[in-house]
Amino acid sequence: MDHFLYRDGVLHAEDIPVAEIAAEVGTPFYCYSTATLERHFRLFDEALAGTEHLVCYAMKAASNQAILKTLAALGAGMDVVSGGEYARAKAAGVPGDRIVFSGVGKTHDEIHAALSGGIRQFNVESEPEMAVINAVALELGVKAPITVRVNPDVDAKTHAKIATGKSENKFGIPISRAREVYAHAASLPGLEVIGIDVHIGSQLTELAPFKLAYEKVAALTEELRADGHDIRRLDLGGGLGIPYERNNEAPPLPVEYGAMVKETLGHLNVEIEIEPGRLIAGNAGILVSKVIYVKEGEDRKFMIIDGAMNDLIRPSMYEAFHEIVPLKEAEPGVDFTKYDIVGPVCETGDTFAKERNMPPVQSGDLVAFRSAGAYGAVMASEYNTRPLIPEVLVKGDQFAVIRRRPTFEEMINRDTIPEWL
Ligand code: LLP
Repeated sequence: MDHFLYRDGVLHAEDIPVAEIAAEVGTPFYCYSTATLERHFRLFDEALAGTEHLVCYAMKAASNQAILKTLAALGAGMDVVSGGEYARAKAAGVPGDRIVFSGVGKTHDEIHAALSGGIRQFNVESEPEMAVINAVALELGVKAPITVRVNPDVDAKTHAKIATGKSENKFGIPISRAREVYAHAASLPGLEVIGIDVHIGSQLTELAPFKLAYEKVAALTEELRADGHDIRRLDLGGGLGIPYERNNEAPPLPVEYGAMVKETLGHLNVEIEIEPGRLIAGNAGILVSKVIYVKEGEDRKFMIIDGAMNDLIRPSMYEAFHEIVPLKEAEPGVDFTKYDIVGPVCETGDTFAKERNMPPVQSGDLVAFRSAGAYGAVMASEYNTRPLIPEVLVKGDQFAVIRRRPTFEEMINRDTIPEWL
């Protein structure tokens, strides 16, 4: 459920007509709902109630400072995957002991910054990385809390580009080698081994792959404990999917996911950590765009809009489906028509949807892409020298621009000219 609903035929973000925001901010732009962000965070938090836990929002999904502050105020931790994300989390006021650091390529400098600034744990993905964390910890005279990310070789049954838990993927260490790697970790004086980490992929629409992976982690927990390791925290990653096609998809709810987690791991008496990104931010954001032209092709109509693949890459990168709806609800009985919905970028891949059935639109009309809050703004680029589009946060009947559109001048002035020119 989200807070982008039609009221009297007009799409609202919470209590504000989206068209009013568009009139002030200009299109295209991203618009987020505070109530939806909060609701989704709480669903996870409540799903794990009764178990010691921390919900660490995977901020790669949407990392604007205002979004981070909104979630941090509810007690969220953060899952970061770069020095930049770590700095963003700290800047938003998240204490180090609520920040976990994931990712296969943490550099010496990133590790140094996180260990100096405070960190809940590193989710270590390889032995070479383990060696660097150990060295930096010794240099700083501290012990680095770590889990090892294990790769359980489980098929997440999602898009190949976002599946991470198969042995052919670059992530984690093979679960078959875990005992050996933990023994090595325990021998390094700069490390404190506290748990196990696993993350098998994103946009999972079934619980079975999670359960399979978590059962393997449960068995490993017992083995590692028998080996003498104090496994007291399990980081279960993120990945729970959202309904992009509302009428056709019903992925499991956080409460069902939470029940499965408790059932599979409850007997171990461990602290549970989860790293949801998409489910918190995805349906909490829309992308608003304006129709520039409707063009009649040989055998189809093109709806050319001012948003493009550089603003929302998901359709061209993952063949992802986003519902695209007019800001003014169609009158009952109106005949729908099929459009290929495309942006202005000079690539055929700049296509959001093919033969999409929509109420008729004309130049100047506004449309909204639903479920665009996660992996939208954060994956945007300035391709074709198109400015990064603004982000707006709504709360009740108020809204604020939380990142403004840069001017062309600002963009151009980031380049510097060598003296020989
Ligand atoms: N934890 C780790 C270690 C991850 O790699 C990810 C996502 C998450 C948590 C959060 O997963 P979520 O709950 O959001 O599914 N750009 C792609 C998605 C990439 C996901 C990468 N890792 C997309 O637009 O579909």
